[in-house]
Amino acid sequence: MTGTLYGVGVGPGDPDLITLKAHKILQMTPVIAYPAPEVGDSLARSIAAPHIPHGRREIIIRMPLDPKNFPDRSAYDQAAAEISAVLQNGEDVAVICEGDPFFYGSFMYLFDRLGDVFPVQVVPGISSLMACAAASLMPLVARTETLSVLPAPMAAADLRARLEVADAAAIIKLGRHAGKVMDVLKDLNLLQGAQYVAHATMDDQQVRPLAEVDPTEVPYFAMILVRRGEVGS
Ligand SMILES: C[S@@+](CC[C@H](N)C(=O)[O-])C[C@H]1O[C@@H](n2cnc3c(N)ncnc32)[C@H](O)[C@@H]1O
Repeated sequence: MTGTLYGVGVGPGDPDLITLKAHKILQMTPVIAYPAPEVGDSLARSIAAPHIPHGRREIIIRMPLDPKNFPDRSAYDQAAAEISAVLQNGEDVAVICEGDPFFYGSFMYLFDRLGDVFPVQVVPGISSLMACAAASLMPLVARTETLSVLPAPMAAADLRARLEVADAAAIIKLGRHAGKVMDVLKDLNLLQGAQYVAHATMDDQQVRPLAEVDPTEVPYFAMILVRRGEVGS
């Protein structure tokens, strides 16, 4: 019998926003794995910290800082091999992910490599999308409206084309792309009314009208929410 690979969403930042199911799995799996920067702490590990019992074996998946190499296939190949050895041995492994594992989560790269070989369970987490809407008190979509999720590294022309037809949009992965995104929103007359949320549900959460944000100070863990029109009653 091999072990089970769990992809566990641990929520957007506040450790209280982890699900009971995720908590239970962290109590019973002997090995946890998580991505981390080349140097420094893992966000997923720090969110889940209060829920991880002492003495767990940990597999740290160190990711390169250079965005040109992202996602680093060799880091995931190596992690998959390490995790595979544990699963072959009959032990379960929980790969913890910030937010939800299948919403732009790095768990997907491991799922890709191991999903056909071992039993897998994915435990959904509260994603940053939900956390940012809640933090900004901005309902996302209603009735037959559509929501576009747009990664900020997209080309400005593509962003523009999608924003032109979106009822509502969430723009993620901001960081150094924030200035470009703000220019496009301004051009489309969508800057006023857009909300900016950084580090939602964390101790240093920021919620502000986007028009007040300095684009040079926007971190990676930030999102812009845009709506056309009112929700209406
Ligand atoms: C690689 S995606 C991971 C998303 C994650 N799996 C989820 O379900 O929320 C990272 C992007 O999600 C957004 N994000 C994640 N956590 C956030 C938070 N606490 N506050 C604001 N944005 C966040 C940011 O736009 C960030 O660039």
